[in-house]
Amino acid sequence: MKVLMVCLGNICRSPVAEGILRHKAQVHGLDIEVDSVGTGNWHVGQAPDIRSQKVAKSNGIDISSLRGRHVSKADFSNFDLILAMDNANYKDLLKLASTPAEQAKVKLILDYAYPNQQLDVPDPYFGSESGFDSMFVLLDEAIEKLVEELKG
Ligand code: 4NP
Repeated sequence: MKVLMVCLGNICRSPVAEGILRHKAQVHGLDIEVDSVGTGNWHVGQAPDIRSQKVAKSNGIDISSLRGRHVSKADFSNFDLILAMDNANYKDLLKLASTPAEQAKVKLILDYAYPNQQLDVPDPYFGSESGFDSMFVLLDEAIEKLVEELKG
């Protein structure tokens, strides 16, 4: 199973989501490959925002070696599940997908914890550090549910 986490910049939300899923997959002995990308290309090659690194580290997860990558058309064939952090990312991904089968791989990540509510993981980039803490809690909840589902 290959899972792609997607946000706008690939420096705040999706690298944390990638780190959490990697960590939980290891804990549960699940064979999952994880990567993350941005729908925007401004932060290609950059390490995650220092505030994201900090909240991950304080929860035992090291994301310092991750680097920003821009989403590509090939990602839709390479990954089985493509998880959008918010509704804007979701819409951008649906536009990039080449086929209905590729579109069907795209889901909102918070649907795992809060089904049918179309909730966003709020973008913490322009806010205060507390936004990064609440982002972590939301992602952890959703990814815990995802892992339960993948365990079957
Ligand atoms: P992310 O946050 O999508 O969670 O990585 C953002 C990071 C940077 C920008 C926007 C969102 N930006 O406009 O540079």
